[in-house]
Order: sequence, then C-alpha cells, then structure tokens
Amino acid sequence: MTNTEKQAALITGANKGLGFEAARGLGARGWTIFLGSRDVGRGQVAVEKLAAEGVRAVLVPLDVTSDASVAEAVRLVRAHTDRLDVLVNNAGAPGHAINPADATVDEIHGVYDTNVYGPIRVTHAFLPLLRTAENPRVVMVSSAVGAFAVVSDPAQAASKMHELAYSSSKAALNMLTVRYAQALPGIKFNAITPGEVANGKFAATDMNGHRGQLTAAEGAEAIIRLATIPADGPTGTFTDRLGPVSW
Ligand SMILES: NC(=O)c1ccc[n+]([C@@H]2O[C@H](COP(=O)([O-])OP(=O)(O)OC[C@H]3O[C@@H](n4cnc5c(N)ncnc54)[C@H](OP(=O)(O)O)[C@@H]3O)[C@@H](O)[C@H]2O)c1
Repeated sequence: MTNTEKQAALITGANKGLGFEAARGLGARGWTIFLGSRDVGRGQVAVEKLAAEGVRAVLVPLDVTSDASVAEAVRLVRAHTDRLDVLVNNAGAPGHAINPADATVDEIHGVYDTNVYGPIRVTHAFLPLLRTAENPRVVMVSSAVGAFAVVSDPAQAASKMHELAYSSSKAALNMLTVRYAQALPGIKFNAITPGEVANGKFAATDMNGHRGQLTAAEGAEAIIRLATIPADGPTGTFTDRLGPVSW
C-alpha cells in the first residue's frame, strides 16, 4: 500500500477549523474520512459540505473525553473498515487563559481531559485498527505554546501569555508523542503545530476568535503532510508548516 492509494483516516474534532480542513485535504486525495464530531448536528453539516465536494466522509459521533463515546466510535469505524491508516488527534480545548495565580484544578482538569487524556483514550482504543494498516500514522495536533523553547524565548508572544492549562497540556502531548514513537516503532507518531513558529503566526479559527494570520487551510498543511508520510518517513518529530520546531 502506498500513500497514493485509497486510505482511511479518523480525525477528531473535524466538524470545523483545522480538523475540517485536514478532512477536506485528505478527502480530496480520495481517502475515506471518518469525521469525528462530538455534536452530531455540527458533524452532519460538515459531512454534507465535504460530500458536495466529492469527499467520502463518514460521520463518527466522538467526544474524546468519554470512554463510552470512544468505544462506540471504534464500533462504528469497524463496521466500515478493518484497517485505519491514519489517526489525527486534533480535538482541542483552549481553556480560559486564567493567570497561574488564579488557576484551579477544575479548569485544568477539563483542558487535560480533552488535550491529554483525549488523545490517549482515542489512540489506545484505535491501536488494533491502526496495527492492521501497512504504514499506520498518528498525528498529534499540538501547539507552539507546548514547546519549552518557545515559551522561554522572550521574543515570542507566548512568553508573555500567562496561563497554565493549555500550554502545559500541549507540552504533555508533545511528550506523549515522543514516548509513543519510542515504544511503538511500527506506528509513526508525530506532533505538529499549525502555525509558523519562527514568524509568530497561527491559523484563524474559532479557538482564537479568528485572530490568526494564516487560513485554516494553511494551518492544516502540517497535519496533511504528516498524515501522508511514506513508510520510511519520520516518527517522534515536532514540526510546523515551515519545518522542525524545537521542543
Ligand atoms: N488555530 C491555531 O492556529 C492553532 C494553534 C495551535 C494549536 N491548535 C490546535 O489545533 C487543534 C484544532 O483547533 P482549531 O484551531 O481548529 O479550533 P476550533 O475551530 O475551535 O476546533 C476545535 C475542534 O475541537 C473539537 N472539540 C473540542 N472538545 C472536544 C471534545 N471533548 N471531543 C471532541 N471534539 C472536541 C471542537 O468541537 P465543537 O465544534 O463541538 O466545539 C472543534 O471541532 C486544537 O487541538 C488546537 O489546540 C490550533
């Protein structure tokens, strides 16, 4: 199986934003897209939008914070295929940008449930389907603010963004990526950040009130690049649309 042949990808949080654009880009290659959405109505609208463009997308109701929802998603995907080539852990929660002095476990727990436990829950549940693919790949949608190199650089705006939940959750996601990659050499695990770290740019989506300087499609480029790497491609890396990013 080469990456030009038809493949199947599950993308979490694909009803809008970067997940939707990744679904559109991979779907345009003739892939089957399992479109994860925690809200069935919003997911259905997205599936219909893609279908109108000729993309074969299957709605997968999927709340990454729920074991039951993830188990149901596995059952649904299994009804369509016995093989999953690509998993994109894209669903993310921004938190409330609360100053560390005022941050509580309650806020942090909700963000971790989506950004850290979510990818673990979904990855663990889909490992059997990924293992039946010839060149399975997992893309972790991380963030520049999950990088120590970025938040400790005074030249980066992120160094002045005082919050705990989101940045530490993405730092954890980066470590998960490396640890999965080391332990499971048969599956490629790579983390990406959707922006351009060197230029301090990010992608305009609902998550940031559309203040990003890049389009969502540009933000999804790195997701698509790592989702389509060949069998001799990298694992355990962290990149943006311009290239490698320091952890
Ligand atoms: N935009 C950027 O430049 C940027 C930069 C760095 C990192 N990221 C990361 O990129 C990813 C996508 O974000 P985005 O910018 O595209 O934002 P977005 O448009 O707000 O999309 C976020 C997606 O995650 C979904 N989601 C949230 N909680 C979920 C849950 N518990 N279960 C399933 N889905 C859930 C949302 O679903 P609903 O529609 O139901 O809320 C939505 O589909 C996130 O992981 C984010 O941290 C984005």
